[in-house]
Amino acid sequence: MPDVNKTPKKVAVLGATGLVGREMLKVLEQRNFPVSELVPLASERSAGRTFEFNGKTHTVRAVDDDSFEGVEVALFSAGASTSRRWAPIAAAAGAIVIDNSSAWRMDTVAPLVVPEVNPEDIKLHKGIIANPNCSTIQAVVALYPLHKKAGLNYVAISTYQSVSGTGQEALKTLESGSRDILAGNEPSSSLVYPHPIAFDLLPHIGPFDEYGISEEEWKMVRESRKIMHLPNLRVSCTAVRAPIFRGHGESVVASFDKPITPDEVRKILNESPGIEVQDNPGSSIYPRPMYAAGKDPVYVGRIRKDTGIQGAIAMWVVSDNLRKGAALNAVQIAELL
Ligand SMILES: NC(=O)c1ccc[n+]([C@@H]2O[C@H](COP(=O)([O-])OP(=O)(O)OC[C@H]3O[C@@H](n4cnc5c(N)ncnc54)[C@H](OP(=O)(O)O)[C@@H]3O)[C@@H](O)[C@H]2O)c1
Repeated sequence: MPDVNKTPKKVAVLGATGLVGREMLKVLEQRNFPVSELVPLASERSAGRTFEFNGKTHTVRAVDDDSFEGVEVALFSAGASTSRRWAPIAAAAGAIVIDNSSAWRMDTVAPLVVPEVNPEDIKLHKGIIANPNCSTIQAVVALYPLHKKAGLNYVAISTYQSVSGTGQEALKTLESGSRDILAGNEPSSSLVYPHPIAFDLLPHIGPFDEYGISEEEWKMVRESRKIMHLPNLRVSCTAVRAPIFRGHGESVVASFDKPITPDEVRKILNESPGIEVQDNPGSSIYPRPMYAAGKDPVYVGRIRKDTGIQGAIAMWVVSDNLRKGAALNAVQIAELL
């Protein structure tokens, strides 16, 4: 009998030329995901481009109605409107779609999965599984083990998110804006953000609603409730874009039903999957995005009692938004399938 889990699969990657798509290809290779045939897809813009995968040259194709024939696993990272159009077509062709965009995350049928938190939800899929937003993934990986122990009842999160979270155009924007300023010039106006991002902070990720709450802040609220199965969890969030290339940092204050000490938090997190504790109170040991870039874990440090809410814990959570925040989480879901 062949080992079913290791039977090679025909895998499509839609958005194969993007930041997340390229990281997906790297993660598939690095984790020896059993791929019998790779179907790299993007738009007409990059059709014909070639790249190496598992020692062979592959050519990017423009996605069309026949792209998903025989595909078993389809990893999507090409934006929400592209997903809304092509995910039902891929699923109807028999593929299981794992989608990185926001298109299906709050859909009542599609599960929203972080393998360290709610792997059992995968079984509920009807052809489409949603991958959560990058900033939500790292927060719930750190919070869920604490919730299981002590009952999470409130969390306040401020994010410091790198520009790679906005895609490859944003990398160019930060780089050219930084060069402009260092050369003593005005940074050219940004096509990606409402203001130049170099040497600045923009508390503005996605459009604002009528109450002034940003789309990214709502993603944190709604997605964390859905993933942790805590529909009434109280969540405060301020989402900020920071002038760093890769890796998101988050200041997290969490309050629990049962008292929990910083030492207990360190112990629980040290024993939890996908987490590396980098903490030594009073020292300069703590997680940093530059260190986390290109690595898999969610790093947690600066674990301490909160100064404002009795019994609450404050901590600093860092992860690579392109790895655990996107590509790695998607491939882990494919592995679970
Ligand atoms: N970056 C992150 O940290 C992160 C984290 C979680 C989720 N996501 C989500 O992942 C998706 C991709 O993000 P990214 O950062 O990789 O963006 P990106 O670097 O801008 O890449 C976008 C990819 O989508 C493809 N694409 C765009 N429009 C298309 C269309 N109409 N038909 C087919 N392919 C199309 C592009 O192909 P061409 O080369 O042909 O233009 C490219 O491969 C987004 O939905 C994003 O919200 C990103």
